[in-house]
Amino acid sequence: MKILITGSSGMLGSECKTVFSQDHEVFCPDRETLDITGWDMVIEMLDDIAPDVILNCVGLTDMETCEKDEFAVRKINVEGPRNLAQASARFGCQIVHISCGEIFDGHKPMPQPYFEDDTPSPLSAYGKSKLESETAVRENSPNYIILRSHWIYGIHGHNFIKSLVRWARQKNPEVMKVPDDEYGSPTWAHRLAVQIQSLLTNQGRGTYHATANGYCSRFEYAVSVLDKLGIKAPIEACSIKETDDGFGPVNYLLENRYSRKQGNDAMVDWEADLDKFLHKHAEDLIKEAGKS
Ligand SMILES: NC(=O)c1ccc[n+]([C@@H]2O[C@H](COP(=O)([O-])OP(=O)(O)OC[C@H]3O[C@@H](n4cnc5c(N)ncnc54)[C@H](OP(=O)(O)O)[C@@H]3O)[C@@H](O)[C@H]2O)c1
Repeated sequence: MKILITGSSGMLGSECKTVFSQDHEVFCPDRETLDITGWDMVIEMLDDIAPDVILNCVGLTDMETCEKDEFAVRKINVEGPRNLAQASARFGCQIVHISCGEIFDGHKPMPQPYFEDDTPSPLSAYGKSKLESETAVRENSPNYIILRSHWIYGIHGHNFIKSLVRWARQKNPEVMKVPDDEYGSPTWAHRLAVQIQSLLTNQGRGTYHATANGYCSRFEYAVSVLDKLGIKAPIEACSIKETDDGFGPVNYLLENRYSRKQGNDAMVDWEADLDKFLHKHAEDLIKEAGKS
């Protein structure tokens, strides 16, 4: 297959580039070559490449920037995906678009997970924009996969693990308070790329959830990372109400119901993947933390 990957320099896009390059012809234009917010650029690129699949890994993911910059969040998270979806319809190819758990309000009692057909009710500007992006894709492309995930980590881009290690490796870090009433399933970007490949190979269509199996609180996640890396640092549990997010206790558990039903679920237990990831990248993480 010919696959056009947008956002291939990002956390998930980089992993997709690596995984898909093994069996497919991939095209990974940088942002300057293909800015997805520009319709003409999108059309020219598709005309040139004629891909079988557009895999959209672009996103404005910084929650604070999304709250402050309404123009940018609309352009990147909604208009960009709409352009790609319309182009996919025009050129007769499939589009894979990545969405997130923030399209739900996170108020389900623990440990009840969200299913693919639960009613969305986003609280944040980021979540609202991602919900709109889903609608833009559904309304404009007859052949789409929307994949919702959460708490993604990887060796490229910014993520919670990198911030945690950077903080912990300071000389005398101040106590870090981490919520023990915010729940999710830490998901390795590499595993998500494998999941996307499995859906594409098996003719997946529609909306899917894709997070690691099992769950933990953010505090348990942080402790687990530090323990596995053998780093001692002053970390304390707190309530999410004490942090800047201010959206209250949150449950963002996503059940991978559809991929499981179709026999397409490639996800594994979150701790097993975290072990693999840290085993592979501990040195790089610590080196990178030392540079900042
Ligand atoms: N991070 C998570 O935990 C998480 C969870 C669930 C879902 N998601 C979704 O997964 C997707 C990928 O997230 P990520 O964390 O991998 O993102 P990321 O690391 O921030 O990467 C974003 C990518 O988008 C590119 N980009 C930004 N604006 C662009 C534009 N106008 N045109 C073309 N490229 C543009 C960036 O290029 P430059 O580097 O050149 O700016 C970068 O390659 C997003 O849709 C996100 O909403 C993420």
